[in-house]
Amino acid sequence: MIQRLSELKQTALLELDAVKDPSNLESWRVRYLGRKSELTNMLRGLAELPIEERKTAGALANRIKGELESVLETKTEALKTISQQQNMRADESAAAQGDITLPGRPIPTGRLHPISETFNEIADIFISLGFQVVESNDVELDYYNFEALNIPAEHPARDDMSTFWIDYENERGERQMLLRTHTTNVTARNIATMKPPIRVIEPGRVYRYEATDATHLTMFHQVDGLAVDKNITMADLKGVFYDFARRFYGEGRRVRFRPDYFPFVEPGVEVAVECAICHGNGCRLCGNSGWIELGGAGMVHPKVLERGGINPEEYTGFAFGFGIDRAPMLRYGIDDLRLFFGSDLRFLRQL
Ligand code: DAH
Repeated sequence: MIQRLSELKQTALLELDAVKDPSNLESWRVRYLGRKSELTNMLRGLAELPIEERKTAGALANRIKGELESVLETKTEALKTISQQQNMRADESAAAQGDITLPGRPIPTGRLHPISETFNEIADIFISLGFQVVESNDVELDYYNFEALNIPAEHPARDDMSTFWIDYENERGERQMLLRTHTTNVTARNIATMKPPIRVIEPGRVYRYEATDATHLTMFHQVDGLAVDKNITMADLKGVFYDFARRFYGEGRRVRFRPDYFPFVEPGVEVAVECAICHGNGCRLCGNSGWIELGGAGMVHPKVLERGGINPEEYTGFAFGFGIDRAPMLRYGIDDLRLFFGSDLRFLRQL
């Protein structure tokens, strides 16, 4: 029996040595240490042996059992480590195919259009002066674009604003809707819906049916503004505009107000700012005048207030409106407005 035990140990160790796959460890254990294994049978059969042999064989069998158990444990651990290392190596070679140490591919991020940036800058300045931003639709009723602003059907001022009419007629067969020709339509709406004190700026797209060239498009951008309260005067208009011009166009830039006519203001003025390039001396950019015309302004006509339900005996107001596409053109020194709306990202990205 002692002979058989050491043979058994030899084969068991040799076989275990040959195991490379962790899943074969279990069958090895069943075969050599399991309940039906030869070793277990021999341990059970010890009782039938003579006392002397029983002692030595029993001790040996138990020792071998302990040895086999401990080599199994060592082997299990060893195979586990090997398979972990193999996994790691597999990970590494997969990673090498898509090299994780390379710098990442940049995700293209969007940015604001230069016109939107200009809107935001203008809005920030007026917000800090206590104004709020109000926007309205590009498609407008004749009433708010013209009628409410003292521009009735046959008024010659309509000729200045060649209008895109919407193909729609009301019950009386009148064409009633249009693409707004100025953002002063929002001024008319705010006078009709808000209660004084009012301080608003009104940015948006406007449309005119005109030939296009480097500085004129059928769609462009304006900002209008309106302040209505008790005792508002022309001095308030000038104060607000000077402050705006100083912050938007630069410290010390002069602003010029000259009498002008707009049906919805009385008195009305044309507003210009000193040319940024020549500082009033005259250059190509400002057509040798030294001034860049921004737009118009004035004291809201009493009839316009009245039509909107505000008592002109109690309240007065100033209004202004100017185009804003000029600003990014001046800032970036670009002389063709069409580039801004051509959707060529190579152009837009560099601004
Ligand atoms: N809406 C006028 C235009 O587009 C500009 C303008 C002039 C707006 C005077 C005003 C204003 O609010 O008071 O030519």
